[in-house]
Amino acid sequence: MCDRAPGGEVEIVPNCFRVIQRSNWKIFLENQLDALHPSVTHQSTGRAAHEVEKEIAKRTRKGEAPLSYHMLSAFATVTIDKWDNFQTLNYPHGHCILTGYMGLRPQDPDTLAYDKVMIKAYGQKRFEEIVGVNIHHVLIYPGLSVQSPLQQLRAVRPLGVDRTLTEIWHFRLKGAPEAIYRRSLAYYNLVNSPATLVNADDLENFWKCHQGLSSDGGDWVSFARHLGRDIEKNGVVETAPNCGTSEAPMRNQMKAWARYMTAEK
Ligand SMILES: [Fe+2]
Repeated sequence: MCDRAPGGEVEIVPNCFRVIQRSNWKIFLENQLDALHPSVTHQSTGRAAHEVEKEIAKRTRKGEAPLSYHMLSAFATVTIDKWDNFQTLNYPHGHCILTGYMGLRPQDPDTLAYDKVMIKAYGQKRFEEIVGVNIHHVLIYPGLSVQSPLQQLRAVRPLGVDRTLTEIWHFRLKGAPEAIYRRSLAYYNLVNSPATLVNADDLENFWKCHQGLSSDGGDWVSFARHLGRDIEKNGVVETAPNCGTSEAPMRNQMKAWARYMTAEK
């Protein structure tokens, strides 16, 4: 995230959103890199935004709506088959990465203005390296969820077996044009804020998952999606091509947690 700042530093923007989830902390972390759920869980939010987006686009000369609508409509337009095109990388100790989701190199005027400032600060070669990092989301297991291209992170603090506090922070890239900060702020407010429909959908699901697991319904949870298709290289488990919705990140987290809960570290 610091590399993406022309000034080489980021500034924390006070204050954070704090949410207490009535569910176990592991449910939140399992959700973070789950590529299967967004187009289903957030379908109604995405469709509503897409309808308005199309109306606005019709009324404008260029046929475009503000990017903020796209942040929400993508939940309806990026369907499950498209989510399979992404990839997760799963490292020892439960750490995981979701690769590029929103396009690494957008060509809108705000991004092009930012690119110019970055090239001036770092030179063309280093700039290409920085913006070419193919990461949308990183989990530093078990306590941190970072979305560096969107300048935000979530700290996970378990308060009890059925209560989890998450703090959602966002950052300003020092030296970057104001429009880049505004874009991050829009995503922060529209997608990650506790006030959004997106977050409300997730929180209800987390609560239901926890209630289900507290019942006598069964002792096991299946994380078998695309099991056996993952590719393991030097201790890193990559999802196979067109298997981005694999539950490999959940399997990876549970493996690490099982180790932390036993003598084997
Ligand atoms: Fe979600």
